[in-house]
Amino acid sequence: MSFKNRGLAALSLLFLVHGSLAETSPTKNPQQNLAPSGRERVSINTGWRFLRSETNPDKVSYAERPGLPSTSGTEPLEPWILPAGNDFIKDPTKRHQRPAGNPKTDVVFTQKSFDDKAWETVDLPHDWAIKGPFYTGNNVPVSGGMGRLPIHGVGWYRRKITLVSEDEGKLIYLDIDGAMSYAMVWLNGNLVGGWPHPYNSFRLDLTPYLVLGDSNQLAIRLENPTESSRWYPGGGIYRNVWLTKINPVHVDQWGTYITSKEVSTQSATIDTSIQVKNKANVSSQVEVVTDVHIFDSRVGRVGQRVASFPSVTLNILGGEVQTLNGSVKIENPRLWGPPPIQRPNLYVAITRLRSRNKTMDTYETQFGIRSVIYSADQGLLVNGEHVRIQGVNQHHDLGALGAAFNVRAAERQLEVLQELGCNAIRMSHNPPAPELLELTDQMGFLVINEVFDMWQLQKTTADYHLLFSDWYEPDLRAFLRRDRNHPSVLAWSFGNEVGEQTTGESGAVLARRLHEIVREEDPTRHTTASMNAAEPNMPFPQALDIVSLNYQGEGFRDTPAYSNLPGRKTKPLYADFHKAFPEKMILSSETAATVSTRGTYIFPVTQDISAPVNDTSGGNSTLLHVSAYELYTANFGSSPDKVFAAQDKNPYVAGEFVWSGWDYLGEPTPYYSARSSYFGIIDLAGFKKDRFYLYQSRWRPDLKMAHILPHWTWPNRVGQTTPVHVFSAASEAELFLNGKSQGTKKKEGPSYRFRWDDVKYQPGELHVVTYKNNGVWAEDTVRSAGKAAKLEMQADRTVINADGNDLSFVTVKIVDDNEITVPQASNVITFSVSGAGEIIATDNGDPTDFTAFPSKERKAFNGLALAIIRSKAQKSGFINVMATAEGLKAVQVNLTSA
Ligand code: GAL
Repeated sequence: MSFKNRGLAALSLLFLVHGSLAETSPTKNPQQNLAPSGRERVSINTGWRFLRSETNPDKVSYAERPGLPSTSGTEPLEPWILPAGNDFIKDPTKRHQRPAGNPKTDVVFTQKSFDDKAWETVDLPHDWAIKGPFYTGNNVPVSGGMGRLPIHGVGWYRRKITLVSEDEGKLIYLDIDGAMSYAMVWLNGNLVGGWPHPYNSFRLDLTPYLVLGDSNQLAIRLENPTESSRWYPGGGIYRNVWLTKINPVHVDQWGTYITSKEVSTQSATIDTSIQVKNKANVSSQVEVVTDVHIFDSRVGRVGQRVASFPSVTLNILGGEVQTLNGSVKIENPRLWGPPPIQRPNLYVAITRLRSRNKTMDTYETQFGIRSVIYSADQGLLVNGEHVRIQGVNQHHDLGALGAAFNVRAAERQLEVLQELGCNAIRMSHNPPAPELLELTDQMGFLVINEVFDMWQLQKTTADYHLLFSDWYEPDLRAFLRRDRNHPSVLAWSFGNEVGEQTTGESGAVLARRLHEIVREEDPTRHTTASMNAAEPNMPFPQALDIVSLNYQGEGFRDTPAYSNLPGRKTKPLYADFHKAFPEKMILSSETAATVSTRGTYIFPVTQDISAPVNDTSGGNSTLLHVSAYELYTANFGSSPDKVFAAQDKNPYVAGEFVWSGWDYLGEPTPYYSARSSYFGIIDLAGFKKDRFYLYQSRWRPDLKMAHILPHWTWPNRVGQTTPVHVFSAASEAELFLNGKSQGTKKKEGPSYRFRWDDVKYQPGELHVVTYKNNGVWAEDTVRSAGKAAKLEMQADRTVINADGNDLSFVTVKIVDDNEITVPQASNVITFSVSGAGEIIATDNGDPTDFTAFPSKERKAFNGLALAIIRSKAQKSGFINVMATAEGLKAVQVNLTSA
C-alpha cells in the first residue's frame, strides 16, 4: 500500500471490518446508521477504567485449576461461562444450560455503585504488561520464556454504556476481538458470560441486562496465569471491542460463508451460505438479497456490482436459525492471488434482509475468488500458477507495543516481510487479530491460520490444556467461522507440535476429530498440524491433509557440528514422508531456528554451514549475544543454507515457514536471562539482520542486490582473521580489501553464500562485485567508521492520520563525520516530541535491553535506535521529533498529522 493512499486505506479498515457495514464513534447518533442498514457497529475502545492486581482481589475463580485462584469459599463461574460456546457446539445434547440467576459470588467491582475513579483510565486495545518494568535475574514471577514483563494477575475493566430510546427493541451484542484471558463479563451486576481462550474472538448478548439511559455498567474480568504460555502473551483487552446493534432478525455472527468453484479468468461460480437468525419470539418473513461488488481494498471502496443472487423470501420461526444457500456465476472475475505475478483482488458481498420495504439488516462479507491445488508433487498452485511458499512464522506481539493490536504496526511488519520476498505467514500459534487477516487479504500473503499450541497434553502447567476438553469444539468452530471467507487463508492448522503426535492411535483419534470439524465448517481448504516428532509410520500424520514438518525436513542434529548434542537425531525426512504419503502436499511449517543478534559478530567463525550456538561457537553467554554470521542455530535447528539445500534436494516440497520472521517478546533461546527472541530475520525494533539479505537473495532471485557482512570497524583485530560473507542472488563474486582482490568465489555445494574465511582485517574499505549471466549483477561496499559524531534520523512515514492510532516509526542512526554508521555505537539517545503526536515506545532490537519500552531515553544498539510516534485523535498539525545524545550533533524531523 503506498503512503499516498494511507489515509483512505486506514479508513477502509474501519469501515470494512468483516461483517460490519459501518462503525461510528459512540457519540454519533446511532439512528444515522441503524435506519438505512439495520445494523450498527460502535467502537467502545475509549474511556475504560482499569485495575490490575497480582493477587486475587475479588474471590472470583473460573474453576479449580492449576494457575487459577482456589474456589474454596466461593462459587466457580465456569457453569455460567460455558454456555457462551453453545452456538459452536454441533450436538444439541452437548450444549450447556445456564444455571438460573446469578452466581452467589458478590463482586463489588461489577456493581454500578462501585466508585472506580481511582482506577487508571485506559483506551483499548490495551496490553497491561508492556509498560514494564522488566523483571531481571532469577526467581522472578515472569521469566524469560514469557518476556520478563508483568503479564500475570487479574485485570478489571469497567466502562459505562448508553442505551438510547431508538435502541429499544434492538439486540445489543458485545463483540470482543481478543482478551487475555479467561474473560468474564458482567453488566449491571449480572454475569453475562465469557470466553476463556486467550486469542479467540467472541460475542455476548447484553440485551437482557441493559436499561435505558447512560448508567449501564459493563465490567470485564480477565485473569492471566503465569506458566500459561511459551511466549509473551501480553495481558488485557488487547484487541478491539464493539457493540453491535441489530434487529432481532439478522445475519448471524460470522453468518456468511462464501466459496468459489470452477474458477478461471473467464468465469467462476460463487456459492454462498447465509445464516439468518430470528431471536424474537414471533415468526418473521424476510426477503434476502445479496449483491456482489468489486472491492478496492487500496482505498476501501465498494465498486461496481458484478452479480446478484436471486432474492429469496424466508419464513423464520421465533428462535430459529435458517441457512440459505445460493449460487451465481461471475464472468471475467478478477482473481485473488499472491504478488508479484498475481494481484490480491477482492470482492464484497452485501447481504440485505428486507421486510415490508424496510432494511432489517445489512451485512458485508469481503472475499476473493481463487483456486488452490495442494499437490504432492508440485507443491502449491494458486489459480494454476506454481507458488513456492516463502513464508515466515509470526507471533502476535508487535515488539515494543506488545500485544495491543495496531493496524499500522502490523502493516509495517508485513511491508518489511514483502520487501524480503516473503509471500506467506503462519499465524503461530493462535488466531490473529481480525484486521491482520484483512491486511493479508489486501497485500496478498498466503496464511496458515492456526488455533492450538497444545491439546490435552500440557506444554506449561497453566496452558490451554486445562480448557481443551470443554472448549476445543467451540474454539475451533468459532475460529473457522470468523476466518473462512479470507482468501489469504490457505490452510487450517489445528495444532502445533502437540504431545499427541506420538501417542499412537489415541492422538490420531483426536486429530481425526479436529480434522472432521474443520471439514464440516470449511470443506474447501486442507487441514494440517505441525509435526516435529511424529514419524511417517505413525498414525498421526494420516489424519492430516497436508504434511507440515517442523525442522524434520532438513534433519535434526544430523551433521557433525551437532553430533555431541543430546536429543533425537534424524536425517532429513522429506523423502520418507513423501514416500509414505505420496498423495499429500508437504511443507515445512517451521525451518531454521537460526539465532543471531543484529550487528554482533563473534570470532572465530565456524567453518561449517550450520552449527549449534554455544560459548565456543558463535555465542556469548555473559553478554547474551549470538553472532550474526547467520550460521548458528538452536540445538535442534539448521542455518538457512542447510534448509535451502534440503529443499532443493526435494523439489516437491511446497516451501517453508522460517522460524521466525520478526523477533518477538519471550522465548529468548539460547539465553533465557534476556527478554526477547534471537530467531527473527528482522529484530524486535524492525531493523534488518544480515539474514534478511540471505533470504532475499533466494526469495527475490531477480533483485540486483549484494550484501557484505560483517561491518568493517575492528580497531582491535588488525591482522587477525575476520571472515567476510556476501549474500546475493549472483553466481560469482570477487571481494576487494582496500582495492586488493581477495579472490573470486562461485556459489557452490550446500552453501548459499559467498565466503572468504581467511581475510586478515585491515581498516579501510571492503568492496564486492558480483556477477550473473555474464555481467556485473550488484556491488556493495563497507567502510571502517571513525568516531561517533552525529545523529541521523529517518521516519518510515512523514504524513500520518490524525486518528490517535496511526504511527510513524522513526529510526536514529549514529554516524561519524562521513555519515558512516558507527557499528558498535551505544550512546544514550533522548527522544522528545512536540505538536500533534506523542512518543509511545522506544526500542533498539537488543534482546538484553531492560529499559522499559515507554522510556524516552534509549541506548543505541549497534548504532541504531527506534522511536514510535503516535498521532493524537482529532489533532492535526506538525509533529516535531527530536533526538539528542551527549557529545553528538542532535537531529530532528517534522512529521505531519492530517
Ligand atoms: C518450535 C515451536 C515454536 C518455537 C520454536 C523455536 O518447536 O513450535 O513455537 O518454540 O520451536 O524455539
